[in-house]
Amino acid sequence: MANRVYIFDTTLRDGEQSPGCSMTVPEKLQLARKLVELGVDILEAGFPIASEGDFQAVDAVSREFSWVQVAALARANRLDVERAAASLKHARRPRIHTFLATSEIHLKYKLKKSQEQVLDEAVAAVELARSYTDDVEFSAEDATRTDWDYLEQISRAVVAAGARTVNLPDTVGYSVPEEYGALIGRMVRALGDSAIVSVHCHDDLGLAVANSIAAVQAGARQIECTINGIGERAGNASLEEIVMAFKTRSDRLPFETKIVTEHIFAASQLLSRTITFGPQPNKAIVGDNAFAHEAGIHQDGYLKERTTYEIMDPRSVGVPESKLVLGKHSGRHALHKRAEDLGFQLGKDELDLLYHRFIALADRKKGVSNDEILALLHEVVGAKAAAAND
Ligand code: KIV
Ligand code: ZN
Repeated sequence: MANRVYIFDTTLRDGEQSPGCSMTVPEKLQLARKLVELGVDILEAGFPIASEGDFQAVDAVSREFSWVQVAALARANRLDVERAAASLKHARRPRIHTFLATSEIHLKYKLKKSQEQVLDEAVAAVELARSYTDDVEFSAEDATRTDWDYLEQISRAVVAAGARTVNLPDTVGYSVPEEYGALIGRMVRALGDSAIVSVHCHDDLGLAVANSIAAVQAGARQIECTINGIGERAGNASLEEIVMAFKTRSDRLPFETKIVTEHIFAASQLLSRTITFGPQPNKAIVGDNAFAHEAGIHQDGYLKERTTYEIMDPRSVGVPESKLVLGKHSGRHALHKRAEDLGFQLGKDELDLLYHRFIALADRKKGVSNDEILALLHEVVGAKAAAAND
């Protein structure tokens, strides 16, 4: 399908590389389960040479979700590629993702190498990776600050060496949509059907999603992104924003993904509980206020017809219907369902504890909001974790 766009989720790799986001192997497995349910096409589970934990995470994720394409990151050198290959030894659909910087600024100051050396190393790394798997991706780090002729030369060379995907990252979030679209369009024309062109945008100027979309319009067919937009510095392009832009504006953006959008909110909540922070309240799609209406005029319009102030149905991203009021007459069943809708799987003891705290609160109020239920859920889950640590 010409308009099918592959979602390469890097929450567990680039996402994990930012302060406050490191994850244990069990946490990555739990998140991977959610990402698989969400329908991501490729799951980048770690950077195996970086730590034993990353190695174990790639190994565990690829064993547990054997039907999913699992990627492991490797710099373009023998040790990294071999470590990535070893971490994917049990994978049924392994992808080795090898990368090397190509911009003049990185070559001069970081790598201290010539363009010829970098090209040779990139080709050698791809050839080595191909000796382990057919599914090899090459990323030209800092592609957007690379000379376009050289970028085309190295892209053609890695494809000739066996790369099936060529990723052209905006590593430092420097590009703007028109420029990035033009760069991607040129590389798509140069590579034709020989490889999928992928994009990977950072959000330093707040343009990661706009740049990713411009790239897809120019012919890219893989997007690398993360839940809640976490990632190095200002983060990566946010998966939920891209997917919902395609879904909501299919008249202008006729692209298809396999994402089951109803799982978006639960994935976002699970990630927030796993790392040390959640999205800001006004974050598109998954922020606390994304479907909240405060101003009287908006409330009036919304109550007359939801679509006056909402371009998406909150249920289409798994945000529970806010009009379902829970009060002191509600039972455990409804409370359990609401907890699930908010992304929590509760055991019997946790549900009992939640129910008692909920009834105590509901007795003092006319209704209990989702925010209050979320606060109770965090208390209850926290109380269980504290009890387990005692
Ligand atoms: O931002 C970047 O360039 C990367 C590469 C490793 C793909 O994360
Ligand atoms: Zn990155």
